[in-house]
Amino acid sequence: MKMSTSKKGTFISFEGIDGCGKSTQVKMLLEKLNKEGIDCSLVREPGGTQVSEEIRSVLLKNREENMSPRAEALLMTASRAQLTKEKIKPALDMGFCVIADRYKDSTLAYQGGGRGIDIDYLLELNNFATYDLDPDITILIDISSIEAQNRANINNPDRIENAGVEFQEKVRNLYIQLANRFPERFLKIDGRESIEVIHSTIWEKTINCINAKK
Ligand code: ADP
Ligand code: TYD
Repeated sequence: MKMSTSKKGTFISFEGIDGCGKSTQVKMLLEKLNKEGIDCSLVREPGGTQVSEEIRSVLLKNREENMSPRAEALLMTASRAQLTKEKIKPALDMGFCVIADRYKDSTLAYQGGGRGIDIDYLLELNNFATYDLDPDITILIDISSIEAQNRANINNPDRIENAGVEFQEKVRNLYIQLANRFPERFLKIDGRESIEVIHSTIWEKTINCINAKK
Protein backbone atom coordinates (compact mmCIF):
# COMPACT_ATOMS: atom_id res chain seq x y z
CA MET A 1 0.00 0.00 0.00
CA LYS A 2 1.32 3.41 -0.96
CA MET A 3 1.70 5.83 1.94
CA SER A 4 0.45 9.37 1.47
CA THR A 5 0.67 12.77 3.12
CA SER A 6 -2.21 15.17 3.67
CA LYS A 7 -3.20 17.35 0.70
CA LYS A 8 -4.35 20.21 2.90
CA GLY A 9 -2.69 20.58 6.29
CA THR A 10 0.98 20.09 7.15
CA PHE A 11 1.81 17.16 9.41
CA ILE A 12 5.04 17.27 11.42
CA SER A 13 6.20 14.52 13.76
CA PHE A 14 8.97 14.80 16.36
CA GLU A 15 11.14 11.81 17.22
CA GLY A 16 14.16 10.95 19.32
CA ILE A 17 15.23 9.03 22.40
CA ASP A 18 14.07 10.03 25.87
CA GLY A 19 15.75 13.28 26.94
CA CYS A 20 16.84 14.38 23.43
CA GLY A 21 15.14 17.78 23.80
CA LYS A 22 11.95 16.96 21.95
CA SER A 23 9.40 18.54 24.31
CA THR A 24 11.43 21.75 24.40
CA GLN A 25 11.35 22.02 20.60
CA VAL A 26 7.70 21.00 20.25
CA LYS A 27 6.73 23.77 22.64
CA MET A 28 8.84 26.37 20.83
CA LEU A 29 7.48 25.44 17.41
CA LEU A 30 3.92 25.61 18.68
CA GLU A 31 4.49 29.06 20.20
CA LYS A 32 5.98 30.30 16.93
CA LEU A 33 3.08 28.93 14.86
CA ASN A 34 0.62 30.60 17.22
CA LYS A 35 2.53 33.87 17.01
CA GLU A 36 2.42 33.74 13.20
CA GLY A 37 -1.34 33.12 13.33
CA ILE A 38 -1.10 29.66 11.75
CA ASP A 39 -3.85 27.25 12.85
CA CYS A 40 -2.21 24.31 14.56
CA SER A 41 -2.93 21.41 16.80
CA LEU A 42 -0.65 19.38 19.11
CA VAL A 43 -0.95 15.65 19.80
CA ARG A 44 1.25 13.38 21.85
CA GLU A 45 1.82 9.65 21.75
CA PRO A 46 0.95 7.32 23.27
CA GLY A 47 -2.22 9.25 24.15
CA GLY A 48 -4.14 12.26 22.87
CA THR A 49 -7.70 10.92 22.96
CA GLN A 50 -9.67 9.39 25.81
CA VAL A 51 -9.15 5.85 24.51
CA SER A 52 -5.48 6.53 23.76
CA GLU A 53 -4.81 8.01 27.21
CA GLU A 54 -6.32 4.90 28.80
CA ILE A 55 -4.00 2.77 26.66
CA ARG A 56 -1.09 5.04 27.66
CA SER A 57 -1.60 4.36 31.35
CA VAL A 58 -1.49 0.60 30.71
CA LEU A 59 1.67 1.00 28.62
CA LEU A 60 3.71 3.22 30.92
CA LYS A 61 2.78 1.76 34.31
CA ASN A 62 5.71 0.24 36.22
CA ARG A 63 4.70 -3.32 37.07
CA GLU A 64 6.20 -6.59 38.33
CA GLU A 65 5.79 -8.76 35.22
CA ASN A 66 7.30 -7.87 31.84
CA MET A 67 4.97 -6.72 29.09
CA SER A 68 5.45 -8.81 25.95
CA PRO A 69 7.08 -6.73 23.17
CA ARG A 70 4.26 -7.72 20.81
CA ALA A 71 1.61 -6.60 23.29
CA GLU A 72 3.54 -3.34 23.63
CA ALA A 73 3.65 -2.84 19.85
CA LEU A 74 -0.05 -3.59 19.46
CA LEU A 75 -1.04 -1.20 22.25
CA MET A 76 1.17 1.59 20.86
CA THR A 77 -0.36 1.19 17.42
CA ALA A 78 -3.90 0.85 18.83
CA SER A 79 -3.43 4.20 20.54
CA ARG A 80 -2.13 5.63 17.23
CA ALA A 81 -5.10 4.34 15.23
CA GLN A 82 -7.55 6.10 17.54
CA LEU A 83 -5.53 9.32 17.55
CA THR A 84 -5.14 9.36 13.75
CA LYS A 85 -8.86 8.81 13.10
CA GLU A 86 -10.21 11.06 15.86
CA LYS A 87 -7.74 13.96 15.86
CA ILE A 88 -5.00 14.03 13.23
CA LYS A 89 -6.93 13.38 10.01
CA PRO A 90 -9.82 15.76 10.81
CA ALA A 91 -7.37 18.55 11.75
CA LEU A 92 -5.35 18.06 8.55
CA ASP A 93 -8.55 18.04 6.48
CA MET A 94 -9.39 21.45 7.97
CA GLY A 95 -5.98 22.69 6.81
CA PHE A 96 -4.40 22.78 10.27
CA CYS A 97 -0.72 22.23 10.90
CA VAL A 98 -0.56 19.15 13.15
CA ILE A 99 2.44 18.63 15.43
CA ALA A 100 2.86 15.12 16.81
CA ASP A 101 5.13 14.55 19.79
CA ARG A 102 6.07 11.03 18.59
CA TYR A 103 4.34 9.10 15.81
CA LYS A 104 4.88 5.92 13.82
CA ASP A 105 8.70 5.97 13.91
CA SER A 106 8.66 5.60 17.71
CA THR A 107 7.21 2.11 17.30
CA LEU A 108 9.85 1.20 14.74
CA ALA A 109 12.65 2.57 16.94
CA TYR A 110 11.48 1.35 20.39
CA GLN A 111 9.63 -1.90 19.65
CA GLY A 112 11.80 -2.68 16.60
CA GLY A 113 15.26 -1.36 17.50
CA GLY A 114 14.82 -1.55 21.26
CA ARG A 115 12.79 -4.73 21.73
CA GLY A 116 13.88 -6.56 18.59
CA ILE A 117 10.60 -6.99 16.69
CA ASP A 118 10.96 -7.34 12.91
CA ILE A 119 10.86 -3.89 11.27
CA ASP A 120 9.02 -4.95 8.12
CA TYR A 121 6.27 -6.41 10.22
CA LEU A 122 6.02 -3.18 12.25
CA LEU A 123 5.92 -1.09 9.05
CA GLU A 124 2.79 -3.00 7.98
CA LEU A 125 1.23 -2.66 11.42
CA ASN A 126 1.91 1.08 11.31
CA ASN A 127 0.30 1.44 7.87
CA PHE A 128 -2.82 -0.23 9.22
CA ALA A 129 -2.86 1.97 12.34
CA THR A 130 -2.31 5.24 10.48
CA TYR A 131 -4.69 4.61 7.58
CA ASP A 132 -1.54 4.90 5.43
CA LEU A 133 -0.87 8.47 6.54
CA ASP A 134 2.73 9.71 6.58
CA PRO A 135 3.99 12.95 8.13
CA ASP A 136 5.24 15.60 5.69
CA ILE A 137 8.26 16.15 7.92
CA THR A 138 9.74 13.99 10.65
CA ILE A 139 12.17 15.86 12.88
CA LEU A 140 14.69 13.51 14.46
CA ILE A 141 16.62 15.10 17.30
CA ASP A 142 19.68 12.90 17.47
CA ILE A 143 21.76 12.60 20.62
CA SER A 144 23.71 9.81 22.34
CA SER A 145 21.94 7.94 25.11
CA ILE A 146 24.60 9.00 27.66
CA GLU A 147 24.09 12.69 26.85
CA ALA A 148 20.33 12.28 26.93
CA GLN A 149 20.41 10.52 30.26
CA ASN A 150 22.41 13.35 31.79
CA ARG A 151 19.62 15.71 30.76
CA ALA A 152 16.44 13.70 31.28
CA ASN A 153 14.22 14.08 34.28
CA ILE A 154 15.18 10.91 36.15
CA ASN A 155 13.13 11.66 39.26
CA ASN A 156 10.09 9.78 38.05
CA PRO A 157 11.00 7.56 35.09
CA ASP A 158 8.26 5.54 33.39
CA ARG A 159 8.58 1.86 32.47
CA ILE A 160 10.22 2.50 29.09
CA GLU A 161 12.51 5.29 30.29
CA ASN A 162 13.63 2.78 32.94
CA ALA A 163 14.90 0.37 30.25
CA GLY A 164 18.45 1.80 30.43
CA VAL A 165 21.19 3.40 28.35
CA GLU A 166 21.91 0.30 26.26
CA PHE A 167 18.25 0.06 25.25
CA GLN A 168 18.18 3.78 24.34
CA GLU A 169 21.31 3.33 22.22
CA LYS A 170 19.60 0.58 20.18
CA VAL A 171 16.61 2.90 19.76
CA ARG A 172 18.90 5.70 18.59
CA ASN A 173 20.61 3.48 16.01
CA LEU A 174 17.27 2.43 14.55
CA TYR A 175 16.19 6.08 14.29
CA ILE A 176 19.35 6.82 12.30
CA GLN A 177 18.58 3.89 9.97
CA LEU A 178 15.07 5.26 9.45
CA ALA A 179 16.39 8.73 8.60
CA ASN A 180 18.58 7.13 5.92
CA ARG A 181 15.77 4.93 4.60
CA PHE A 182 13.15 7.71 4.37
CA PRO A 183 15.20 10.82 3.45
CA GLU A 184 12.19 12.48 1.75
CA ARG A 185 10.50 13.16 5.08
CA PHE A 186 13.25 12.94 7.73
CA LEU A 187 15.21 15.94 8.98
CA LYS A 188 17.96 14.74 11.31
CA ILE A 189 19.27 17.39 13.67
CA ASP A 190 22.27 17.25 15.98
CA GLY A 191 20.71 17.44 19.47
CA ARG A 192 23.91 18.91 20.94
CA GLU A 193 23.31 22.19 19.12
CA SER A 194 21.83 25.02 21.17
CA ILE A 195 18.09 25.16 21.76
CA GLU A 196 17.82 28.32 19.60
CA VAL A 197 19.81 26.92 16.66
CA ILE A 198 17.72 23.75 16.62
CA HIS A 199 14.53 25.80 16.78
CA SER A 200 15.46 27.97 13.80
CA THR A 201 16.37 24.93 11.69
CA ILE A 202 12.99 23.39 12.50
CA TRP A 203 11.13 26.62 11.83
CA GLU A 204 12.71 27.11 8.41
CA LYS A 205 11.75 23.59 7.33
CA THR A 206 8.23 23.96 8.74
CA ILE A 207 7.37 27.29 7.14
CA ASN A 208 8.73 26.15 3.76
CA CYS A 209 6.51 23.10 3.88
CA ILE A 210 3.44 25.10 4.92
CA ASN A 211 4.04 27.61 2.10
CA ALA A 212 4.55 24.82 -0.43
CA LYS A 213 1.02 23.51 0.29
CA LYS A 214 -0.67 26.88 -0.30
P1 ADP B 1 12.50 15.14 25.89
O1 ADP B 1 11.14 15.73 25.72
O2 ADP B 1 13.12 14.72 24.61
O3 ADP B 1 12.56 14.07 26.93
P2 ADP B 1 13.20 17.75 27.03
O4 ADP B 1 12.81 18.71 25.97
O5 ADP B 1 12.32 17.63 28.22
O6 ADP B 1 13.47 16.30 26.40
O7 ADP B 1 14.69 18.11 27.46
C1 ADP B 1 15.36 17.43 28.50
C2 ADP B 1 16.25 18.42 29.25
O8 ADP B 1 17.29 18.89 28.39
C3 ADP B 1 15.51 19.68 29.74
O9 ADP B 1 16.06 20.04 30.99
C4 ADP B 1 15.86 20.72 28.68
O10 ADP B 1 15.86 22.03 29.19
C5 ADP B 1 17.26 20.31 28.25
N1 ADP B 1 17.55 20.61 26.82
C6 ADP B 1 16.70 20.52 25.79
N2 ADP B 1 17.30 20.84 24.62
C7 ADP B 1 18.59 21.14 24.92
C8 ADP B 1 19.72 21.55 24.14
N3 ADP B 1 19.65 21.70 22.82
N4 ADP B 1 20.87 21.77 24.79
C9 ADP B 1 20.95 21.62 26.14
N5 ADP B 1 19.92 21.23 26.93
C10 ADP B 1 18.75 21.00 26.35
P1 TYD C 1 6.64 9.97 27.30
O1 TYD C 1 6.64 10.27 28.75
O2 TYD C 1 5.58 10.56 26.45
O3 TYD C 1 8.07 10.25 26.76
P2 TYD C 1 8.66 11.41 25.90
O4 TYD C 1 8.41 12.67 26.65
O5 TYD C 1 10.11 11.01 25.82
O6 TYD C 1 7.98 11.34 24.57
O7 TYD C 1 6.63 8.40 27.19
C1 TYD C 1 6.52 7.74 26.03
C2 TYD C 1 7.41 6.54 26.08
O8 TYD C 1 6.87 5.52 25.24
C3 TYD C 1 8.81 6.85 25.56
O9 TYD C 1 9.77 6.19 26.35
C4 TYD C 1 8.80 6.25 24.16
C5 TYD C 1 7.82 5.12 24.28
N1 TYD C 1 7.14 4.77 23.01
C6 TYD C 1 7.33 3.53 22.47
O10 TYD C 1 8.07 2.70 23.02
N2 TYD C 1 6.71 3.20 21.28
C7 TYD C 1 5.85 4.06 20.65
O11 TYD C 1 5.29 3.73 19.59
C8 TYD C 1 5.64 5.35 21.26
C9 TYD C 1 4.71 6.34 20.62
C10 TYD C 1 6.29 5.67 22.43
